[in-house]
Order: sequence, then C-alpha cells, then structure tokens
Amino acid sequence: MPLRTLDSLGDLAGRRVVVRCDLNVPLQDGRITDDGRVRASVPTLNRLLDAGAKVTVISHLGRPDGAPDPKYSLRPVAVRLGELLDREVAFVDERPASAAPGNADVTVLENLRFDPRETSKDEGERRAYAGELARFGDVMVSDGFGVVHRKQASVYELAEVLPSAAGLLIAAELDVLERLTARPEHPYTVVLGGSKVSDKLAVIDALLPRVDTLLIGGGMLFTFLAAQGSAVGKSLLEADRIPAVQEYLRRADELGVRLVVPTDVVVASRFAADAEHETVAADAIESSSFGADGIGLDIGPRTAETFAAAIAGSRTVFWNGPMGVFEFPAFATGTKRVAEALTEVDGLSVVGGGDSAAAVRALGFSDDRFGHISTGGGASLEFLEGKQLPGLTVLGREG
Ligand code: 3PG
Repeated sequence: MPLRTLDSLGDLAGRRVVVRCDLNVPLQDGRITDDGRVRASVPTLNRLLDAGAKVTVISHLGRPDGAPDPKYSLRPVAVRLGELLDREVAFVDERPASAAPGNADVTVLENLRFDPRETSKDEGERRAYAGELARFGDVMVSDGFGVVHRKQASVYELAEVLPSAAGLLIAAELDVLERLTARPEHPYTVVLGGSKVSDKLAVIDALLPRVDTLLIGGGMLFTFLAAQGSAVGKSLLEADRIPAVQEYLRRADELGVRLVVPTDVVVASRFAADAEHETVAADAIESSSFGADGIGLDIGPRTAETFAAAIAGSRTVFWNGPMGVFEFPAFATGTKRVAEALTEVDGLSVVGGGDSAAAVRALGFSDDRFGHISTGGGASLEFLEGKQLPGLTVLGREG
C-alpha cells in the first residue's frame, strides 16, 4: 500500500488539522541558528491553510526530560514560523495535554516532549497522550520527516487515532530517498563523516553492495585508520569497532567498491578553535609536532581534492556527516571542499540532514545549489539502511 497523501483526507475547508512537524532546530541563546526545518514545513501548512483548514502545529525540540524546560521551548520557533507564513501564529504556552483547543488559523503547541508519555516505551501511555493530542484535530497530517524513525505518541499512535496522511515534505523526502535506493544512476558515491563510526556501521553495511565509491571522513575516519594499523594519537577512536571496520574494508575489496580512507589529515594540539595545527600523512599522525597528543580535526587538502574529484564525477551522491570540526574555521576546509564538489554534480546530490545540513548553510552555501537537503539525519540514514520506519508504515507505506 502506498503512503496516504493529503488528497486522501478529502475536502479540508473548515476542518481542524493537527500537523506533526519536526521543528527540532538548533538554538543558541534562544536564537535559531539554522531554520531549515521550519522553512521545510511551510509548503504543507500553506497548502492546508489555502484549503481553508485551521491548523495546529505540534513538534518536539531537543531532548527535555519529559518535563517543561524553558531552554527547549518552541516559542522562538513559533515566531519564526509566523514570519515565514506571513501570518499571525498563536503560541500555547502550556503543556499540550492541558492546553485547550483555540480558534486561531495557525496555532503552535508547546514542546511535545514536555510530557514523558511522548517518548514512553509503554504503548498504553503513548496511546493516552495521542488521545489527548487528538482533541486538536479532526484529521492529522504527518510531516515531520526527521522524526519518522521514532515510534513516539505524536508520530505513530496519533496517526492511528485520527484519519491521517503524509504531508508534502514527507512525500518529497521519500521521493528522493527512493531514487537513492531503488534506481540510483551510476557512478554512485556516498560520503560519510561525523564523529561516531558506530552510528554509520549499519548504513555502510547496506550501501556497500550498491555504491561505486565510499568516502570516509569526520571523526570516524580515525577508527578506519586504526583498522589499517595506523596510530591516531588522541583522535576520536572507537577501538571496539575496529574488527567491524576491518570486515567492511575486506568486503569493499571483494565487491570492487572503491572505499577511500584519507591519506592526509589536519592534526591539532588540542580540541579548540585556536589550536595550533599542521597537515600530516594519515599514517604519521603521531609524528606531528604534537606527538601522541595530536588530535585529528579535519581531512587534509590532498584527501579533500581526491574526494572532490570522486564526487564531482558522479551521477548520484549522498553525503552524511561533516568531514571535520567545521564549527572551527581552521578545521572547516574539508567539509567546505566536499560541499563545493556536491554543488558541481551533474545528477542527483543529496545532503543528509542534521549536522551536514547545518554545515552547508553555516558555510554559506544556499540550499538551491544542492539537489536536495534532507531534513532528517537519523531518519534518512535508517531509510537507507533498509529499516521499516514506524512513522511511515503507520501512513500506509510498506517495506
Ligand atoms: C533529529 O534531530 O534527528 C530529529 O528531530 C529526531 O530527534 P531525536 O533524535 O531527539 O529523536
């Protein structure tokens, strides 16, 4: 059965629609540092409002402990949404379960995770919470792609309690991800970075038989270097994952996949924006001026050029995870070079959500230079791993 779309909900004029978005944006001192997810939620909301519906937007933000915490309030997000919609947006400053449904055209409820039942492991608790959320709508639209991999009250049970359908964002994200899995054009290159190799093992496993080239950067590269026998100083290392990584290196070889581990890295004296640093060969990290205290914070320039050439020559590219500590300008070069190369792809270029999406925007690239910037980091990875995502199966998707 295919995903239920907005059309399946029939005429929405005068109806109340509760819309599950993923407005989990990065905030610094109460200010949104990347509003990509808020912008991505606008088309569905406009479509519903144009159809004459009254809309209540629900979302989580961060990981509060199941209780109100002003640090995780959705108020700044509601303000930004009002600007983007160019409409009055009512914000309900109460826990969603105790709030009363109002009559505004657009209402944003407070953070769903201010109630422990949202993420409860107990289905009964989640169902009870979903029942309370259902008071805000005659129907439900699920459009928080970034959270479809979570079996949570507002994502799963609410979509069962009310007549529900996928919004335009989920439909668009799925369309792209299906192109990456079902019919990718070759050459197909996947670039993986980010800090933890343990988060990426399943996706490497799933992608190895499908891709032509796999490029490894970010903090996880040091576990690959260690797996090849290099000393990595104080760089990030998940020693218990070395055997798994060695197995992937072997399988890549067997499958004829070009798995590229950096040949040079930028090593720093400490983890700080102003740390002293130098570029060394990847197998000579402990020979840098910092000896065994050196810490790798970026891929080196030679590696960045190798990656850029592989990316730019591909017809399909998926990228998840920064190449280095891009938040520190001295260690952003590798990430920037990879982002630049993605903009040159003659074909489909996809930036996985989370940190990589934040990185391309923070480095000054506009969204339209990429084929697609996903709003879901974990969700897109789990999709590519071939997992069933609860927030999609509940909307009718099979497989
Ligand atoms: C995300 O940022 O990946 C989504 O909003 C899901 O958030 P979570 O990992 O806290 O469930």
